[in-house]
Parts: sequence; C-alpha cells; structure tokens
Amino acid sequence: MSVHSPQTRITTRRLQEMRASRTPIACLTAYDAGFAAVLDAAGVDVVLVGDSLGMVVQGLETTVPVTLEHMIYHTSLAARGTRRALLMADMPFMSYASPEQALANAARLIQEGGAQMVKLEGDGAQEAVVASLSRHGIPVCAHLGLRPQYIHKLGGYRVQGRDSHAAERMIHDAVALQNAGADLLLLECVPALLAAEIRGMVDIPVIGIGAGVECDGQILVLQDVLGMTARPPRFTKDFLAEAGSIRGAVEAYVSAVRERRFPGPEHGFSA
Ligand code: KIV
Repeated sequence: MSVHSPQTRITTRRLQEMRASRTPIACLTAYDAGFAAVLDAAGVDVVLVGDSLGMVVQGLETTVPVTLEHMIYHTSLAARGTRRALLMADMPFMSYASPEQALANAARLIQEGGAQMVKLEGDGAQEAVVASLSRHGIPVCAHLGLRPQYIHKLGGYRVQGRDSHAAERMIHDAVALQNAGADLLLLECVPALLAAEIRGMVDIPVIGIGAGVECDGQILVLQDVLGMTARPPRFTKDFLAEAGSIRGAVEAYVSAVRERRFPGPEHGFSA
C-alpha cells in the first residue's frame, strides 16, 4: 500500500501527518543507489544511510571508525536511488561534539551527500547541538536508547531504560531534544512500555527498533531483513525467507509495518 504518488517526496511535515493519522512509518537502511531504489519503489518512507555501514558494508566490529567522508560518500550514492523516500544520514562518531562542528558536518551531509535529515546519537547533553542544527534549517532525528557509538563506554549491546532511573532520564532527554527542535525520535532497544510512554510525552514521530509496536514507525537494518546477518538480533526478522525476492521482502516488511503485524511481542523487550 502506498500513501503517496511515487513522485511526492516524503517530508518532515508528511511524517508528522502520518503520526497524527496513526499511519505507521516504514523505514530501512540502505548504503548505495541500487538498494535505495528498491526501497524507494517498495514504499519505504525513510531511507537511513546508517553508520551501521561500518559493520554491514565495511566489515568492522563497531560503528566507531566510520568517518564523515564515508557517510558523505554512501549518502550521495543512496541519494541517486531515492525519489519518494526521505533520505536521512547518520552523523558519525565525534562529528557533532560541539554545535559548530555539528553544523559544518551536517551541512556537508546535506549539500554534498544529498540528505534531507541528519541523525545523531544524543541525550540531554546534545540539546545545544540539536537547537543549532534546527535553527539553521537542518532537520534532526535524535537517537536514544541503545547508542552503538557509545559501545566502548557501554561495554555491550544491551536493552536500555530497564531501571526506573534510566527510564526517567530517557523520558527527560526525549522531551528536551524535542523542545530543542528535533523532528524525529529514534528509540533503539527500549522496553515496549517505556517506548509507548515516551511516545505519549512527545509530539514528534517516534521510530522504533526493538522498541515495540506502539511507536509511530519502525526501522531495521536492510541486511537483517534480507537474512544476511550471521547472528541476527532478536528485534529483527528475515523477510526474504518467505518473500523469495529482495523487492518482495522489502514490500512484505513495509506491509507488515503499515498493518502493525511487525514487530510482534517476540521482537520486543519488557522492563
Ligand atoms: O546505523 C544504523 O543503521 C542505525 C539503525 C540501527 C537505526 O542507527
């Protein structure tokens, strides 16, 4: 099912309307023109050029070594494949440590890469960065919950916000980043009830990955959807196994998200 004519580019305003009408937003990652075009044609609303490319394209152990140049390059490839989907690009590790640095680097992702939105792994400490980007007309997605760029500090990829202190902090950060100007919130590996509570506290669309079905939209890494990951995380699903073709798998994912058949309870986490 498509909510638009193919030529209409999805905008932040459209995402806001989808939240208001409770139309789930289907998002996936892509890192080149070919796959981005398949996603675009299959009705994916937001294509993310994630810094997950470090792991699924470059074969690295973490996303930490990914550079701004890598992100600009892959974003520019994906930009050639998208016509309808909103193209979002990750700001890599240490590319947004100050508002000035974030502004210069986000501008490159937009101007040279062709992104329409940038994503950063934030908490309340990134309020000034988000405010500055927003003031300069750069749409921002704030990524809360499990933040893979913090892996060396976290010491492992774990569900976040399970204790009441961490949950309260995440709620506080979500509201603060929205008030600073974030247009979208992404919650990774967060108990489903907490994600639903955060959704109720903000007005902007909330996209989940391992955050339950109550979010306004869902995102997965494309390689997980295509069954290419050796040890896939619990919150993913191999859609290629049943669909039989890449285009079919992506269409099956979009339908499952739109109809709230994905994620199921087995893909989520409790507190
Ligand atoms: O880098 C990425 O692909 C991401 C998704 C997992 C949301 O941030």
